[in-house]
Amino acid sequence: MVDGIARRYDFLNRLLTLGMDRRWRRYAVDRLALEPGDRVLDLACGTGDVAAEVLRRWPGSSVVGADPAAEMLRLAKVKVPTLETIRCSAEKLPFPDASFAALTVAFGLRNFADRGLGLAEIGRVLRPGGRLAVLEFAQPHRGPLQRFYRWYLGSALPVIGGLLSRSAAYRYLPESIDAFPVPDDLVAEMGRYGLAVTERRSWLGGTVWYYRGLRSQAGQD
Ligand SMILES: C[S@@+](CC[C@H](N)C(=O)[O-])C[C@H]1O[C@@H](n2cnc3c(N)ncnc32)[C@H](O)[C@@H]1O
Repeated sequence: MVDGIARRYDFLNRLLTLGMDRRWRRYAVDRLALEPGDRVLDLACGTGDVAAEVLRRWPGSSVVGADPAAEMLRLAKVKVPTLETIRCSAEKLPFPDASFAALTVAFGLRNFADRGLGLAEIGRVLRPGGRLAVLEFAQPHRGPLQRFYRWYLGSALPVIGGLLSRSAAYRYLPESIDAFPVPDDLVAEMGRYGLAVTERRSWLGGTVWYYRGLRSQAGQD
C-alpha cells in the first residue's frame, strides 16, 4: 500500500498540509541538537524528508534511513544520495545496541505493526542519553475547529489523496489516528520503554504533535 503512493507522496504531503509539514519536520530536527559526527537513524524514513533536513541542519552528522517499503527507500536515495538506506521494520532493527546518538520517526509510529516492540527497539538502538524526535497525528482537541479537522481528516483527505494517488492509503489515515493513543497515553507508553518525553507541542488544534524524547541512562525501566 505504501509503495503504491510513494511517487506522489511528497507532492501530496505538501498539498494536503499546505506546505506546513516542512515546518513541523524542521522544528523537530532543530531540537536534535546534534554534535559533529553523530549518527542518526531516521526510522520509517519514507522518501527521506527528515533525513534531508537532518543533513541540511546538522551537516557534520550522518543518517541511516530505515523503512520496510522498497520504493520509498529508492526515492529517499534519489533525494539524499549520501543516505545509507536499510530495508527493515521498526520491530526488528538490524543494528547493535546503542548504535545511534539520535533517532527520528515522523508519521511512522502509527504504522508500526507492534508499537511496543518498535519502542523497545528504539530504546535498544539509541545510546543512553540519546535524543528522540517523534512527529505524529492525534485526534484534534475539543473546540470549534474539531469538527473541521475531523471532516478534513475523515472525509476530504481520503478523497483528495485517493483521487490523486489512486490508492486506498489515505482512507487508512483516520482509522489509524483513531486507533492511536492520545498524547498523554503515548507519553506514558514511551516512558515504559525508557524514553522520557522532555518536551511536546502541537499544531493545528492538536492534530499534529511533536515529542522530544531522551533515552534514559539505564535503558528500559
Ligand atoms: C506516512 S509515512 C512517513 C514517512 C516519512 N517519515 C515522512 O515524514 O514523510 C510512514 C512510513 O512508515 C513506514 N512503515 C510502515 N510500517 C512500518 C514498520 N513496521 N516499521 C517501520 N516503518 C514502517 C511506511 O513504509 C512509510 O514509509
